[in-house]
Amino acid sequence: MLDSRKDEASRSVIIRAHSPQTVSFNSLRAHGHINRAIFYQGVKNNLLVEFEHKDSVRHLLEQVSYFSDPGQMPVQSRLLYAVHSSNVYQQHSLPPAFIHTVGTKNFTQQQYQAADSISAQMKGLHKMRSLSDDGSRLRYFMCTLIEDMLRTTLPHCRVDPFGSSSNGFGWEGSDLDMMLTLMHKKQQNPQANFWFLTKRHAEDERTFAQQCLDVVGDMIRVLMPSSHRVSKILNARVPIVKFHHDITDIECDLSCVNVSGAKMSELMFLMGEMDSRVRLLMTTIKQWAKSCEVTRSHPGPWPSNFMLLSLLIFFLQTRSVPVIPSIRHLQALAEPEDHFQVDGVDYAFVTDVQKLTPSKNNQKPEELLLEFFHYYAHFDFEMNGLSLIEAATFPKPDSAAVFIENPLEVDHNISKNVSSSCADKLKDSMLQALRCLETKSVPNRDEPWGLMCLFQPPVEKDTELTWLDKTCEDNGWNHKTSPIIWRELIDRGGKGVLV
Ligand code: CTP
Ligand code: MG
Repeated sequence: MLDSRKDEASRSVIIRAHSPQTVSFNSLRAHGHINRAIFYQGVKNNLLVEFEHKDSVRHLLEQVSYFSDPGQMPVQSRLLYAVHSSNVYQQHSLPPAFIHTVGTKNFTQQQYQAADSISAQMKGLHKMRSLSDDGSRLRYFMCTLIEDMLRTTLPHCRVDPFGSSSNGFGWEGSDLDMMLTLMHKKQQNPQANFWFLTKRHAEDERTFAQQCLDVVGDMIRVLMPSSHRVSKILNARVPIVKFHHDITDIECDLSCVNVSGAKMSELMFLMGEMDSRVRLLMTTIKQWAKSCEVTRSHPGPWPSNFMLLSLLIFFLQTRSVPVIPSIRHLQALAEPEDHFQVDGVDYAFVTDVQKLTPSKNNQKPEELLLEFFHYYAHFDFEMNGLSLIEAATFPKPDSAAVFIENPLEVDHNISKNVSSSCADKLKDSMLQALRCLETKSVPNRDEPWGLMCLFQPPVEKDTELTWLDKTCEDNGWNHKTSPIIWRELIDRGGKGVLV
């Protein structure tokens, strides 16, 4: 899937255009056969044009002019701007039937109201929210844009999406996690009489990633059109370069040689493929967590969507009739080619979903949703850690508020960042969600019911914490790491919070 998607993306260009009618079809067709044209309406207003052959893109780029502003770097990329003349509107524009137009979608209050069960509401919401084929195309396009920029000096590099952009749990607005690999397989030519001279070897993989992303971050800032707010977060456990790509309106995180993250995405993809209820439940839980501010759009001491997904998987593994099996079971079914290493440790899980027997659990999605809230509202996070490998709890090994063992790096806790107040808020919100679903589960044409009630914004708020959270959110600060927040608190005479 990755390879065919990347191939489509590398045969595509994006043209900035207010409407598809401002782009001359004839002048595009002169470069070769066009497979498809997608117009992204809204903030983006772009036309993605996919040619049948890569040569057409090369041919087109040879004839494109640069802006002649001396203050701008004249870089070549597959992001173009259409210079149109008035006759384009009349006869040469792209035929409307040929263009697929996409815009923002929402599951409306009327649709919620008209559904005949909570499970039906969950299905409708999932269909509307999940990452569409058009959304995926933009993300693969972004990966190939970075590849284009780097391949002039790193000819074998690859940039692949992972996380929610490829694990089947993504939304249109999710960030794009990308992984840079410098050499995807051993490139050795038995005929060669020479080797490339390379730079000094880094001591370990993390140092290597830091050095590499340091340079790549600068390249993105200087050489990549439409990249903004580029920041290098090199001291993180997994070093990344963060930036916003304005034309595609995608928030990007680029990491380097992140095998664990990529394999984890494959594992989560497999979990979603095993049973259709997994993705429905995750969409609903993600929307609920967003609406009651259990999760936020940027990192901090609150749960992440990935942590919620891990909680959901554990919950589904531990039903009296499991919905999905333990990872230990997936390991037992693995073939020799399914084995891989993270930090020198061997891991494996089956990758062919056909080898798995479908679950005998036949609970409805809404029953599982209610049970999920009940299970975690009463879960003892103080005492227990969660193991997705064994599908069992174990005594918590440290003082973290929530401990979820990372199945591909067993020494790491997926929810290490979560503070005890955010863990308490998670449990409280689950209890409220449970009450809401228990009392408002019957379809009602006159009043809000089901998910409509579940997605209400929080009513009760702790004012001190809210001010702190809001200030952090407004400024993109992190409670734990930013000294600025403490300065700001002192300047405001922040009482209570400092104690
Ligand atoms: N990941 C991991 N261990 C963690 C955090 C993240 O292995 N402790 C991997 C997972 O594969 C995850 C990916 O990194 O899917 C990206 O992390 P993140 O962007 O936080 O989560 P997403 O699943 O992409 O969810 P979202 O849509 O909220 O970005
Ligand atoms: Mg992500």
